[in-house]
Amino acid sequence: TVVRTPLVVGNWKMNGSFERNQPLLESLLSHLAQKRLPEVGVCPPFPYLAQVGALLAETPVRWGAQTVSEHRGGAYTGQVSATMLKDLGCSYAIVGHSERRQYCAETDDAVARQAMAVLDSGLVPIICVGESAAEEAACQTLAVIDRQLAPVLLALAGVADEGASVVVAYEPVWAIGTGKTPTPEGVQAVHTHIRAALDAAGLVQTRILYGGSVKGSNAETLFALPDVDGGLIGGAALDAQDFSTICTAA
Ligand code: G3P
Repeated sequence: TVVRTPLVVGNWKMNGSFERNQPLLESLLSHLAQKRLPEVGVCPPFPYLAQVGALLAETPVRWGAQTVSEHRGGAYTGQVSATMLKDLGCSYAIVGHSERRQYCAETDDAVARQAMAVLDSGLVPIICVGESAAEEAACQTLAVIDRQLAPVLLALAGVADEGASVVVAYEPVWAIGTGKTPTPEGVQAVHTHIRAALDAAGLVQTRILYGGSVKGSNAETLFALPDVDGGLIGGAALDAQDFSTICTAA
């Protein structure tokens, strides 16, 4: 049997400030102290990565970025490369979050290139997939996920044994920040489908996170599902107590 270490990552989105980050992390660390923990990470906005890294160095909590350039360096004004994230001590970079796909017109192919840039720098890409409300209503969920994953699996096919270094996050767009989640059966059905696709590609170590309105109150049920290896947490990651409850549920 394959053992995958559960992972909980907080995506702060465009929230935080120098003033607020420190008490949030100090409170989180005190809530997490003496607990049996999964792998835990937080992804603040770029300007706070150095501050967050300094506060979390020497703690069990890791940090990462919310997006990354697909390019390695050069004339790409405003972009941040994966090697720069490595310089900042990042462990992860989220790629293909639905908010990036929606507001920054990121394509499936671009997301796959970002994931490879992250891997090449020795960081772990957290690759987000998930259907919109309209796609869900049209029973397109699995087709959308297959389409989003296809270029990623193709790119990974050329890379030996990277299974443990890649994470997939299933985030139904209609569940993000809405307080709505699919039923446990609904989540499991999609994760089973993704698991099969990853296993067929030899990526048996790849963890699959669920994201979308995860809270302290529903985390245990979601994380108990057989193919859910942890969570990608938005709003609840900004509340130290709720986030720590979610971490200990994983
Ligand atoms: O990346 C995590 C996120 O999109 C989920 O957000 O606020 O529904 O937990 P939220």
